[in-house]
Amino acid sequence: MPLASQPKSIAARAPARVNLLGEHTDYTGGLVLPMAIPFHTTARISAIGGEQNVFRSAQFDGEYAEPAGSSAERSKMWSDYPVGVLRQLQQRGIVPAAFLLELSGDVPLGAGLSSSASVEVASCLAMLARSGKTLTANELALLCQRAENDYVGSPCGIMDQFAITAAQAGHALLISTRDLQFEHVAMNAGGLQEAGIVICNSHVKHSIAAGAYGERRKEVEAGQAILRTRFAGLRDLGEATLEQLQACESALTRESYKRCRHIITENARVKQARDAMMAGDAQALGKLMVQAHASQRDDFECSCAEIDFLVDTAVGLRGCLGARMTGGGFGGCTVNLVERGEFAKFCETLKDAYGARFGVAAETYVCEAVDGALADQEKGF
Ligand code: GLA
Repeated sequence: MPLASQPKSIAARAPARVNLLGEHTDYTGGLVLPMAIPFHTTARISAIGGEQNVFRSAQFDGEYAEPAGSSAERSKMWSDYPVGVLRQLQQRGIVPAAFLLELSGDVPLGAGLSSSASVEVASCLAMLARSGKTLTANELALLCQRAENDYVGSPCGIMDQFAITAAQAGHALLISTRDLQFEHVAMNAGGLQEAGIVICNSHVKHSIAAGAYGERRKEVEAGQAILRTRFAGLRDLGEATLEQLQACESALTRESYKRCRHIITENARVKQARDAMMAGDAQALGKLMVQAHASQRDDFECSCAEIDFLVDTAVGLRGCLGARMTGGGFGGCTVNLVERGEFAKFCETLKDAYGARFGVAAETYVCEAVDGALADQEKGF
Protein backbone atom coordinates (compact mmCIF):
# COMPACT_ATOMS: atom_id res chain seq x y z
CA MET A 1 0.00 0.00 0.00
CA PRO A 2 1.47 3.45 -0.81
CA LEU A 3 2.39 5.26 2.35
CA ALA A 4 -0.01 8.13 1.80
CA SER A 5 -3.05 5.86 1.71
CA GLN A 6 -2.14 3.90 4.80
CA PRO A 7 -4.58 4.41 7.67
CA LYS A 8 -3.37 6.93 10.19
CA SER A 9 -2.52 5.35 13.49
CA ILE A 10 -1.91 7.01 16.85
CA ALA A 11 -0.19 5.38 19.82
CA ALA A 12 -0.63 6.18 23.48
CA ARG A 13 1.32 4.72 26.34
CA ALA A 14 0.77 4.24 30.07
CA PRO A 15 3.12 2.84 32.71
CA ALA A 16 2.40 0.44 35.59
CA ARG A 17 2.71 1.44 39.24
CA VAL A 18 4.06 0.15 42.50
CA ASN A 19 2.67 1.41 45.78
CA LEU A 20 5.30 2.33 48.34
CA LEU A 21 2.86 2.86 51.19
CA GLY A 22 -0.86 3.41 51.83
CA GLU A 23 -2.64 0.17 51.07
CA HIS A 24 -6.44 -0.12 50.93
CA THR A 25 -6.75 3.49 52.06
CA ASP A 26 -7.98 4.76 48.69
CA TYR A 27 -11.68 3.96 49.02
CA THR A 28 -12.22 5.72 52.35
CA GLY A 29 -10.64 9.09 51.60
CA GLY A 30 -7.12 8.17 52.76
CA LEU A 31 -3.56 8.74 51.60
CA VAL A 32 -1.48 6.66 49.18
CA LEU A 33 2.14 6.93 48.01
CA PRO A 34 2.68 5.08 44.72
CA MET A 35 5.17 5.67 41.90
CA ALA A 36 5.00 4.80 38.20
CA ILE A 37 7.40 2.05 37.09
CA PRO A 38 9.04 1.30 33.72
CA PHE A 39 6.60 -1.31 32.43
CA HIS A 40 4.18 -0.02 29.83
CA THR A 41 1.02 -0.70 27.88
CA THR A 42 0.90 0.74 24.37
CA ALA A 43 -2.49 1.30 22.75
CA ARG A 44 -2.32 1.88 19.01
CA ILE A 45 -5.51 3.10 17.41
CA SER A 46 -6.23 3.34 13.70
CA ALA A 47 -9.11 3.63 11.26
CA ILE A 48 -10.60 0.38 10.07
CA GLY A 49 -12.85 -0.14 7.07
CA GLY A 50 -16.55 -0.44 7.96
CA GLU A 51 -18.48 0.47 11.06
CA GLN A 52 -16.94 -1.85 13.62
CA ASN A 53 -14.77 -1.15 16.65
CA VAL A 54 -12.21 -3.93 16.95
CA PHE A 55 -10.06 -4.67 20.03
CA ARG A 56 -6.92 -6.82 19.84
CA SER A 57 -4.19 -7.63 22.34
CA ALA A 58 -0.72 -9.07 21.82
CA GLN A 59 -1.00 -10.62 25.29
CA PHE A 60 -4.42 -12.26 25.07
CA ASP A 61 -6.08 -14.49 22.51
CA GLY A 62 -9.31 -13.59 20.87
CA GLU A 63 -10.29 -10.30 19.31
CA TYR A 64 -13.47 -8.48 20.30
CA ALA A 65 -15.54 -6.57 17.75
CA GLU A 66 -18.79 -4.65 18.05
CA PRO A 67 -20.69 -2.15 15.91
CA ALA A 68 -19.51 1.43 16.59
CA GLY A 69 -21.98 2.97 19.01
CA SER A 70 -22.82 -0.38 20.61
CA SER A 71 -23.82 -0.42 24.25
CA ALA A 72 -23.43 -4.18 24.70
CA GLU A 73 -22.87 -5.60 28.18
CA ARG A 74 -19.48 -6.97 29.18
CA SER A 75 -18.24 -10.05 27.35
CA LYS A 76 -16.09 -11.39 30.22
CA MET A 77 -13.02 -11.20 27.99
CA TRP A 78 -9.80 -9.25 28.49
CA SER A 79 -11.38 -6.61 26.25
CA ASP A 80 -13.85 -5.59 28.97
CA TYR A 81 -11.21 -3.14 30.26
CA PRO A 82 -10.86 -1.01 27.09
CA VAL A 83 -14.53 -1.50 26.16
CA GLY A 84 -15.51 -0.30 29.65
CA VAL A 85 -13.45 2.84 29.01
CA LEU A 86 -15.22 3.33 25.66
CA ARG A 87 -18.62 3.07 27.40
CA GLN A 88 -17.58 5.82 29.82
CA LEU A 89 -16.44 8.02 26.93
CA GLN A 90 -19.74 7.39 25.13
CA GLN A 91 -21.66 8.41 28.25
CA ARG A 92 -19.80 11.72 28.15
CA GLY A 93 -20.68 12.24 24.49
CA ILE A 94 -17.18 11.35 23.28
CA VAL A 95 -17.63 8.88 20.42
CA PRO A 96 -14.50 8.04 18.43
CA ALA A 97 -15.01 7.14 14.76
CA ALA A 98 -14.85 3.36 14.10
CA PHE A 99 -11.43 2.05 15.04
CA LEU A 100 -9.02 -0.80 15.53
CA LEU A 101 -7.38 -0.69 18.98
CA GLU A 102 -4.26 -2.84 19.35
CA LEU A 103 -2.79 -3.32 22.82
CA SER A 104 0.69 -4.53 23.60
CA GLY A 105 3.02 -4.22 26.55
CA ASP A 106 5.22 -5.75 29.17
CA VAL A 107 3.35 -5.13 32.44
CA PRO A 108 3.39 -8.36 34.49
CA LEU A 109 -0.20 -9.60 34.63
CA GLY A 110 -2.04 -10.31 37.89
CA ALA A 111 1.00 -9.25 39.91
CA GLY A 112 -0.45 -6.27 41.78
CA LEU A 113 1.35 -3.78 39.54
CA SER A 114 -1.84 -2.44 37.94
CA SER A 115 -1.81 -4.04 34.53
CA SER A 116 -5.57 -3.31 34.29
CA ALA A 117 -5.29 0.38 35.07
CA SER A 118 -2.37 0.65 32.64
CA VAL A 119 -4.56 -0.82 29.86
CA GLU A 120 -7.45 1.49 30.80
CA VAL A 121 -5.38 4.67 30.78
CA ALA A 122 -3.49 3.85 27.56
CA SER A 123 -6.75 2.88 25.82
CA CYS A 124 -8.49 5.99 27.04
CA LEU A 125 -5.74 8.26 25.73
CA ALA A 126 -5.79 6.48 22.36
CA MET A 127 -9.58 6.76 22.02
CA LEU A 128 -9.46 10.41 23.09
CA ALA A 129 -6.82 11.11 20.46
CA ARG A 130 -9.02 9.50 17.81
CA SER A 131 -11.90 11.73 18.97
CA GLY A 132 -9.77 14.88 19.01
CA LYS A 133 -10.58 15.38 22.71
CA THR A 134 -8.57 15.73 25.90
CA LEU A 135 -9.35 15.25 29.58
CA THR A 136 -7.60 16.52 32.68
CA ALA A 137 -5.65 14.06 34.84
CA ASN A 138 -8.49 13.94 37.38
CA GLU A 139 -11.14 13.34 34.72
CA LEU A 140 -9.08 10.68 33.00
CA ALA A 141 -8.31 8.75 36.18
CA LEU A 142 -11.88 8.94 37.47
CA LEU A 143 -13.26 7.84 34.10
CA CYS A 144 -10.98 4.79 34.03
CA GLN A 145 -11.83 3.88 37.63
CA ARG A 146 -15.54 4.11 36.77
CA ALA A 147 -14.98 1.82 33.77
CA GLU A 148 -13.48 -0.78 36.07
CA ASN A 149 -16.13 -0.37 38.79
CA ASP A 150 -19.18 -0.25 36.54
CA TYR A 151 -18.31 -2.33 33.49
CA VAL A 152 -15.73 -4.85 34.66
CA GLY A 153 -17.37 -5.05 38.08
CA SER A 154 -14.18 -4.71 40.10
CA PRO A 155 -14.59 -2.43 43.15
CA CYS A 156 -11.13 -0.77 43.02
CA GLY A 157 -10.27 2.64 44.43
CA ILE A 158 -8.65 5.55 42.54
CA MET A 159 -4.96 5.03 43.35
CA ASP A 160 -3.86 3.02 40.33
CA GLN A 161 -5.50 5.06 37.60
CA PHE A 162 -4.43 8.33 39.17
CA ALA A 163 -0.82 7.27 39.76
CA ILE A 164 -0.50 5.93 36.23
CA THR A 165 -1.87 9.17 34.82
CA ALA A 166 -0.24 11.84 36.97
CA ALA A 167 3.08 10.44 38.25
CA GLN A 168 6.36 12.21 37.57
CA ALA A 169 9.75 10.63 36.89
CA GLY A 170 12.06 10.54 39.90
CA HIS A 171 9.16 11.06 42.30
CA ALA A 172 6.57 9.18 44.27
CA LEU A 173 3.05 10.62 44.16
CA LEU A 174 1.33 11.43 47.44
CA ILE A 175 -2.40 11.41 46.72
CA SER A 176 -5.20 12.43 49.03
CA THR A 177 -7.89 10.17 47.63
CA ARG A 178 -10.72 12.23 49.15
CA ASP A 179 -10.19 15.18 46.83
CA LEU A 180 -7.36 14.07 44.51
CA GLN A 181 -5.00 16.74 45.80
CA PHE A 182 -1.50 15.48 45.16
CA GLU A 183 2.15 16.21 45.72
CA HIS A 184 5.23 14.86 43.92
CA VAL A 185 7.73 13.63 46.51
CA ALA A 186 11.35 13.33 45.33
CA MET A 187 12.89 9.88 45.61
CA ASN A 188 16.46 11.15 45.92
CA ALA A 189 16.71 13.45 48.91
CA GLY A 190 19.62 12.84 51.30
CA GLY A 191 20.11 9.18 52.20
CA LEU A 192 17.54 8.10 49.62
CA GLN A 193 20.10 8.76 46.91
CA GLU A 194 21.90 5.62 47.98
CA ALA A 195 18.75 3.47 48.00
CA GLY A 196 16.28 2.32 45.37
CA ILE A 197 13.20 0.22 44.77
CA VAL A 198 13.33 -3.49 44.01
CA ILE A 199 10.08 -5.31 43.28
CA CYS A 200 9.84 -9.05 43.77
CA ASN A 201 7.10 -10.97 41.96
CA SER A 202 6.01 -14.05 43.94
CA HIS A 203 3.97 -15.33 40.99
CA VAL A 204 1.11 -16.02 43.37
CA LYS A 205 -1.73 -14.79 41.19
CA HIS A 206 -3.68 -11.89 42.42
CA SER A 207 -7.04 -10.77 41.09
CA ILE A 208 -8.87 -7.92 42.72
CA ALA A 209 -11.96 -8.85 40.74
CA ALA A 210 -12.07 -11.95 42.97
CA GLY A 211 -14.12 -11.79 46.16
CA ALA A 212 -11.59 -11.09 48.93
CA TYR A 213 -10.91 -7.48 47.92
CA GLY A 214 -14.63 -6.72 47.90
CA GLU A 215 -15.12 -8.45 51.27
CA ARG A 216 -12.39 -6.36 52.87
CA ARG A 217 -13.84 -3.25 51.35
CA LYS A 218 -17.26 -4.00 52.84
CA GLU A 219 -15.75 -4.60 56.29
CA VAL A 220 -13.93 -1.26 56.10
CA GLU A 221 -17.03 0.60 54.90
CA ALA A 222 -19.19 -0.98 57.62
CA GLY A 223 -16.74 0.31 60.24
CA GLN A 224 -16.61 3.72 58.61
CA ALA A 225 -20.43 3.96 58.65
CA ILE A 226 -20.49 3.31 62.41
CA LEU A 227 -17.79 5.91 63.09
CA ARG A 228 -19.63 8.48 61.00
CA THR A 229 -22.83 7.92 62.96
CA ARG A 230 -21.00 8.25 66.25
CA PHE A 231 -18.92 11.29 65.30
CA ALA A 232 -20.95 13.92 63.50
CA GLY A 233 -18.92 15.69 60.82
CA LEU A 234 -16.43 12.85 60.34
CA ARG A 235 -16.16 12.59 56.58
CA ASP A 236 -14.36 9.28 56.26
CA LEU A 237 -11.74 6.98 57.78
CA GLY A 238 -9.12 9.20 56.21
CA GLU A 239 -9.62 11.65 59.07
CA ALA A 240 -10.57 9.19 61.84
CA THR A 241 -8.31 8.61 64.85
CA LEU A 242 -7.49 5.43 66.75
CA GLU A 243 -9.25 6.91 69.80
CA GLN A 244 -12.44 7.31 67.78
CA LEU A 245 -12.17 3.75 66.55
CA GLN A 246 -11.62 2.44 70.08
CA ALA A 247 -14.67 4.33 71.27
CA CYS A 248 -16.75 2.34 68.77
CA GLU A 249 -15.09 -1.02 69.34
CA SER A 250 -18.11 -2.79 70.83
CA ALA A 251 -20.31 -1.75 67.89
CA LEU A 252 -17.96 -3.19 65.25
CA THR A 253 -17.35 -6.82 64.34
CA ARG A 254 -13.84 -7.98 65.21
CA GLU A 255 -12.98 -8.09 61.50
CA SER A 256 -14.27 -4.60 60.84
CA TYR A 257 -12.37 -3.27 63.83
CA LYS A 258 -9.08 -4.75 62.68
CA ARG A 259 -9.54 -3.63 59.06
CA CYS A 260 -10.26 -0.07 60.21
CA ARG A 261 -7.28 -0.14 62.56
CA HIS A 262 -5.10 -0.98 59.58
CA ILE A 263 -6.54 1.92 57.59
CA ILE A 264 -6.07 4.47 60.37
CA THR A 265 -2.51 3.42 61.22
CA GLU A 266 -1.66 3.17 57.51
CA ASN A 267 -2.78 6.75 56.84
CA ALA A 268 -0.50 7.88 59.67
CA ARG A 269 2.38 5.88 58.17
CA VAL A 270 1.93 7.54 54.78
CA LYS A 271 2.23 10.98 56.36
CA GLN A 272 5.36 9.88 58.22
CA ALA A 273 6.77 8.36 55.03
CA ARG A 274 6.32 11.61 53.17
CA ASP A 275 8.19 13.45 55.92
CA ALA A 276 10.93 10.80 55.95
CA MET A 277 11.34 11.14 52.19
CA MET A 278 11.49 14.92 52.36
CA ALA A 279 14.14 14.60 55.07
CA GLY A 280 16.04 12.00 53.02
CA ASP A 281 15.72 9.48 55.85
CA ALA A 282 15.81 6.12 54.07
CA GLN A 283 16.03 4.15 57.33
CA ALA A 284 12.81 5.70 58.61
CA LEU A 285 11.01 5.01 55.32
CA GLY A 286 12.16 1.39 55.43
CA LYS A 287 10.88 0.93 58.99
CA LEU A 288 7.48 2.29 58.02
CA MET A 289 7.31 -0.25 55.18
CA VAL A 290 8.02 -3.09 57.60
CA GLN A 291 5.34 -1.82 60.00
CA ALA A 292 2.90 -1.53 57.12
CA HIS A 293 3.46 -5.14 56.18
CA ALA A 294 2.77 -6.32 59.73
CA SER A 295 -0.48 -4.37 59.65
CA GLN A 296 -1.47 -5.83 56.26
CA ARG A 297 -0.67 -9.32 57.51
CA ASP A 298 -2.22 -9.14 60.98
CA ASP A 299 -4.98 -6.52 60.83
CA PHE A 300 -6.01 -6.44 57.18
CA GLU A 301 -5.22 -10.14 56.74
CA CYS A 302 -4.51 -9.82 53.05
CA SER A 303 -1.08 -11.44 52.86
CA CYS A 304 -0.16 -15.08 52.22
CA ALA A 305 2.66 -17.48 53.16
CA GLU A 306 4.72 -16.81 50.04
CA ILE A 307 4.61 -13.04 50.48
CA ASP A 308 5.37 -13.21 54.20
CA PHE A 309 8.36 -15.38 53.39
CA LEU A 310 9.64 -12.87 50.82
CA VAL A 311 9.25 -9.97 53.26
CA ASP A 312 10.82 -11.81 56.20
CA THR A 313 13.72 -13.01 54.07
CA ALA A 314 14.28 -9.60 52.47
CA VAL A 315 14.53 -7.68 55.74
CA GLY A 316 17.25 -10.07 56.90
CA LEU A 317 19.39 -9.41 53.82
CA ARG A 318 22.28 -6.97 53.73
CA GLY A 319 21.33 -3.55 52.41
CA CYS A 320 17.57 -4.03 52.74
CA LEU A 321 15.99 -1.09 54.58
CA GLY A 322 12.37 -2.20 54.34
CA ALA A 323 9.98 -4.56 52.59
CA ARG A 324 6.25 -5.10 52.32
CA MET A 325 3.56 -6.50 50.08
CA THR A 326 2.31 -4.00 47.50
CA GLY A 327 -1.09 -3.65 45.83
CA GLY A 328 -4.41 -5.32 46.52
CA GLY A 329 -2.86 -8.29 48.28
CA PHE A 330 -3.37 -12.05 48.54
CA GLY A 331 -0.22 -12.58 46.46
CA GLY A 332 1.44 -10.50 43.78
CA CYS A 333 4.60 -8.56 44.56
CA THR A 334 6.66 -7.20 47.40
CA VAL A 335 8.28 -3.78 47.26
CA ASN A 336 11.72 -3.44 48.84
CA LEU A 337 13.88 -0.45 49.67
CA VAL A 338 17.46 -1.55 49.11
CA GLU A 339 20.88 0.08 49.13
CA ARG A 340 21.95 0.44 45.51
CA GLY A 341 25.29 -1.25 46.00
CA GLU A 342 23.49 -4.40 47.20
CA PHE A 343 20.90 -4.68 44.39
CA ALA A 344 22.46 -7.65 42.58
CA LYS A 345 23.23 -9.73 45.65
CA PHE A 346 19.84 -8.91 47.20
CA CYS A 347 17.93 -10.07 44.11
CA GLU A 348 19.94 -13.23 43.72
CA THR A 349 19.71 -14.30 47.37
CA LEU A 350 16.00 -13.54 47.62
CA LYS A 351 15.18 -15.53 44.47
CA ASP A 352 17.33 -18.46 45.58
CA ALA A 353 15.66 -18.60 48.99
CA TYR A 354 12.17 -18.44 47.49
CA GLY A 355 12.95 -21.12 44.94
CA ALA A 356 14.35 -23.41 47.64
CA ARG A 357 11.29 -22.90 49.86
CA PHE A 358 8.42 -22.94 47.33
CA GLY A 359 9.92 -24.45 44.18
CA VAL A 360 8.81 -21.38 42.22
CA ALA A 361 11.05 -18.91 40.36
CA ALA A 362 10.39 -15.41 41.71
CA GLU A 363 11.34 -12.45 39.53
CA THR A 364 12.92 -9.21 40.67
CA TYR A 365 12.67 -5.82 38.96
CA VAL A 366 14.89 -2.89 39.90
CA CYS A 367 12.71 0.15 39.22
CA GLU A 368 13.28 3.89 38.97
CA ALA A 369 10.19 6.10 39.12
CA VAL A 370 9.06 7.04 35.59
CA ASP A 371 6.60 9.56 34.17
CA GLY A 372 2.87 8.94 34.26
CA ALA A 373 0.94 8.68 31.01
CA LEU A 374 0.11 12.37 30.62
CA ALA A 375 3.69 13.59 31.12
CA ASP A 376 4.86 10.76 28.87
CA GLN A 377 2.53 11.79 26.00
CA GLU A 378 3.52 15.45 26.34
CA LYS A 379 7.15 14.49 25.91
CA GLY A 380 6.14 12.50 22.82
CA PHE A 381 7.36 9.17 24.15
C1 GLA B 1 -5.81 -2.41 44.12
C2 GLA B 1 -6.87 -1.37 43.80
C3 GLA B 1 -6.50 -0.03 44.40
C4 GLA B 1 -6.15 -0.14 45.88
C5 GLA B 1 -5.18 -1.28 46.12
C6 GLA B 1 -4.93 -1.53 47.57
O1 GLA B 1 -4.62 -2.10 43.48
O2 GLA B 1 -7.02 -1.22 42.41
O3 GLA B 1 -7.54 0.89 44.20
O4 GLA B 1 -7.30 -0.29 46.66
O5 GLA B 1 -5.62 -2.49 45.52
O6 GLA B 1 -4.26 -0.47 48.14
